[in-house]
Amino acid sequence: MNKTYPKEVFFNGEWLPSQAAAVSVFDRGFMLGDGIYEVIPVYGRQPFTMEAHLGRLREGLHAVGIHYTANGLLDRVKEAVERAECADGLVYIQVTRGVAPRTHYFPEGVEPTVLLYAYPFNFEGFEKKLVDVVLSPDLRWHRCDIKSISLMANVLANNAARQAGVVENVFEREGWITEGSHTSVFLVHNGTIYTHPKGQHILPGITRDIVISIARETGIPVREEAFAVADLPRVEEAFLTGTTMQVTAIGGIWINGRKSVVSTDRGPVTRRIQEAFIKQTNSL
Ligand code: PDD
Repeated sequence: MNKTYPKEVFFNGEWLPSQAAAVSVFDRGFMLGDGIYEVIPVYGRQPFTMEAHLGRLREGLHAVGIHYTANGLLDRVKEAVERAECADGLVYIQVTRGVAPRTHYFPEGVEPTVLLYAYPFNFEGFEKKLVDVVLSPDLRWHRCDIKSISLMANVLANNAARQAGVVENVFEREGWITEGSHTSVFLVHNGTIYTHPKGQHILPGITRDIVISIARETGIPVREEAFAVADLPRVEEAFLTGTTMQVTAIGGIWINGRKSVVSTDRGPVTRRIQEAFIKQTNSL
């Protein structure tokens, strides 16, 4: 993928050309991965579910004791969208604990480092895709509900998935499906949608919440219950959700080097969810 840097970034209180923004080598984000991040989608110049993303950012910061209110960020997100001059895009926000001599414990009197920028992203056509995923052991920590910038386990897993020629992982913890490396996972069995309950083993996905509301409004039964790996062969449909993949159908799941076919076309439940999702993002 041909990725480019944004022209400008909002860094510690000011907009700067991105080449001019530099972080200290002693920043705890750089040294320890000590920070929280968010990714907000922008459809037709309108940030989507911005309040929910900023709410999750605040909860993450609170959970790890980084004192930053994030109150001003709402306006910064809107500014970022204006400045990036893209109709569809993503806004990335990162707040680290700040710059201090390296210690494992929290340093005192440190200002958080704040970075925010928008960049173009093409969401089009997700509803036409049918992607393969690979079942991978969930080697992450036990606070996956915190959107930490420390993403080593996710990075290793997703890189292995890419090398195997698929786009995403489906993580398994002790025989249960949790989520993807950067998406939530939904499985359909006997017409009912299953997704892992919120808690310390998944990120509370914003797209996940939207999909659950859509299912409830549409009358599709949905259960926030973990799905067993052993039951995967009985899945009728499966899909991934997230800010970068919206609602993308899964065609097959690679398990121990063998492909278990879920579906050769997008199933009726996936289609109904996708249609309602597109309606929401088109009506912003
Ligand atoms: N990832 N699960 C994990 C582990 C994630 O990293 C993400 C998002 C999701 C989906 O959450 P949401 O619907 O709120 O985007 C689930 C972002 C996009 C990322 O890391 O780039």
